[in-house]
Amino acid sequence: MRVLGIETSCDETAAAVVEDGRRVLSNVIYSQVDTHTLYGGIVPELASREHIRKIEPVVGQALDEAGTDLEHIDGIAATYGPGLVGSLLVGLTYAKALAYASGAPWIGVDHIEGHIYSVFLENAGVEFPALALVVSGGHTNLFWVESTTGDCARLEYGLIGKTRDDAAGEAYDKVGKLLGLPYPGGPVIDRLAALGDPGVRRFPMAKISDQSMDFSFSGIKTAVLRVFKEEGLKPLDEEASRRDPDRLNLLAGFQEGVVRALVRRTMEAAGRFRPRSILLSGGVAANRRLREAMAQAAAETDVAFYYPRPILTTDNAAMIACAGTFRLMRGERSGYDLDAEPGLKLAAPAPPSKKGRWKQ
Ligand code: KG4
Ligand code: ZN
Repeated sequence: MRVLGIETSCDETAAAVVEDGRRVLSNVIYSQVDTHTLYGGIVPELASREHIRKIEPVVGQALDEAGTDLEHIDGIAATYGPGLVGSLLVGLTYAKALAYASGAPWIGVDHIEGHIYSVFLENAGVEFPALALVVSGGHTNLFWVESTTGDCARLEYGLIGKTRDDAAGEAYDKVGKLLGLPYPGGPVIDRLAALGDPGVRRFPMAKISDQSMDFSFSGIKTAVLRVFKEEGLKPLDEEASRRDPDRLNLLAGFQEGVVRALVRRTMEAAGRFRPRSILLSGGVAANRRLREAMAQAAAETDVAFYYPRPILTTDNAAMIACAGTFRLMRGERSGYDLDAEPGLKLAAPAPPSKKGRWKQ
């Protein structure tokens, strides 16, 4: 089954063709970063306009690179939430029009489910139940994932942890902006932090009083802001930051604090609920230190650990095509009345039980 995926939930216009939910035939991503970098963050109105300008060429290129055309597409999958409503509407409406014109079945996909499925694009044989950490610019969620089929063909999700304030990627982006780095801050801080010493400036993990598996990242962001003000630091670009050891140590300490919180919570949940696998996805999953620290922690507890290649961790349409394929294969279809849902939630809070059913 050949599925065309379309993703426009935020600031990437993306289209991809995926065969049988595994083989990526094309994966085209047009990033609007140059448009938004001038403003230090995403401007929703500009994002919608850019999507409108780019959706047709991006989809055309994805079909061309896959060596196919609309007539040979067996299904269409498009993100319908969560995200920016104006951005979502562009990809969703375009997908519906293509489905109508071609007669191909189509399905709306949850962007967060797409991130989880990005792991399955390159890793066959993932065992369930799994713990899935989705860390992006808009979300930091820890899901318990159960399979009713033994593989990724049909999954059920329960939310066991989430951020109480900023998402991890949002903290990276805000710290990046504060220190004068271009948007998005995540990849730049990843590069700079690798040059610093994380032991010089330590940021303690946010205390969350109850037994929850929640995260919090606004405290560490504010702590960096305090250092910035108290020490009279000035914004510096990436090149100048490289030559400033104090700046590199500050960034390394910040990154270490974020990574430590993500790994510790995930491993606490793994200790409590005993998954067979840990899945890491979302834009921040591209972070080298996070991948390394999570891999080490998972190895120490003997849990299998999976993550996608960096190009598949940040927003892309291959992951949407992949998640859509498995839904289409089990007969699910969306109607033309499916609307964009900016606040779509993949799962309600639900801790796992020993029997593999959700506790009520
Ligand atoms: O998944 P994604 O592309 O979009 C959302 O769904 O939000 O995630 C984007 C986020 C941004 O906050 C960006 O700074 C962060 O992922 N990011 C990174 C890295 N690459 C992207 N954060 C840390 N290290 C990276 N290497
Ligand atoms: Zn995303």
